Amino acid sequence: MERTRWGIIAPGKIAAKFADALHAVDSAELYAVASRSSERARSFAEIHGASQWYGDYTELVKDEDVDIVYIASPHTFHAEQAVLALTHNKPVLCEKPITVNHSQANELFDQAKRNNLFCMEALWTRFMPVFEKIDEWIATDQIGEVQMIRANFGFSFQFDPKGRLFDPNLGGGSLLDLGIYPLTFAQMVLRDLSPSKVSAIATKGSTGVDENLGMLLQYDSGVIATLSSTTRANTGYIATIIGTKGKIEVPMFWCAQSAELYSTDRAEEVLVDKAEFPHFCNGYEWEIQEAQRCLANRQLESTKMTWQSSLDVMKIMDEVRKQINLSYPDD
Ligand SMILES: NC(=O)c1ccc[n+]([C@@H]2O[C@H](COP(=O)([O-])OP(=O)(O)OC[C@H]3O[C@@H](n4cnc5c(N)ncnc54)[C@H](OP(=O)(O)O)[C@@H]3O)[C@@H](O)[C@H]2O)c1
Repeated sequence: MERTRWGIIAPGKIAAKFADALHAVDSAELYAVASRSSERARSFAEIHGASQWYGDYTELVKDEDVDIVYIASPHTFHAEQAVLALTHNKPVLCEKPITVNHSQANELFDQAKRNNLFCMEALWTRFMPVFEKIDEWIATDQIGEVQMIRANFGFSFQFDPKGRLFDPNLGGGSLLDLGIYPLTFAQMVLRDLSPSKVSAIATKGSTGVDENLGMLLQYDSGVIATLSSTTRANTGYIATIIGTKGKIEVPMFWCAQSAELYSTDRAEEVLVDKAEFPHFCNGYEWEIQEAQRCLANRQLESTKMTWQSSLDVMKIMDEVRKQINLSYPDD
């Protein structure tokens, strides 16, 4: 089998996990890594087993043996680095959020289209196989009509005004880093319908970014999604889809490996079915497989994570930020 040679840009925390997953996927090869620092690139290459390392991102995208570039920098650099790769004829898998705002994402996908190259946001939730079972339960009327969706996502982080979670110059705030997951969950359940109404409130910290965020979305069908994110507390991680006669609970919903189907016809809830789809590495393998499948099929975008689905979520996040009065230098 021919191997796909991956190049990683910005080897930080998430890049290390991604590198582990590359080693677990058949036909994937961690070939090269680039950092702003030669020393960091060399060290990452040694630890994770890459054969090439560069102290400059442009050197990596110029390497003719790189088949696809994975971008793992803080949000505010995604647009520029993805365009750098595309303009050097490299397909791109870019960490979430694909960009900081809708307009940047639009320009990025236009560039991918112009260059006839694959480009995908690495929002790993979209590729968890258990969601196929969840779709099936909903499509076969196991929970009746969906009415409510509930998902919260937050962790208790140490406050660091210069860190990417808190610094507005790095796209800080809970929304872009964490809130994007409950938003994506709701959009996945509702097959990427656009909400007709979005309401948001936030508590900001001393750097001016949202640290607690509440979002209410209403859809034309009448469904209401109650979503939240926070950098101040661990929220608990079961997302719930509530229908007229049942509900689905999804533990660890952003990297789900299981889901439970309940009947709620009677006052007592009854567990009807449980689906389990364990990761065979750390969960990042699914998006790697999907990107490689798309490359092999010469697809510019994945059907699991279309350009439009990224744009829809960016549009909702722009609206949320407008309502909570949070802008970034890139806006
Ligand atoms: N899918 C997921 O589960 C998941 C989880 C965590 C994070 N993420 C996403 O991945 C991205 C990176 O997150 P992370 O936690 O891995 O970040 P990180 O470790 O803080 O930084 C990643 C790399 O980006 C470069 N970088 C860091 N700060 C920079 C700055 N101020 N200016 C320019 N470059 C900088 C550095 O690479 P150099 O060595 O080249 O300087 C660094 O090693 C974010 O967009 C985040 O949303 C996704």
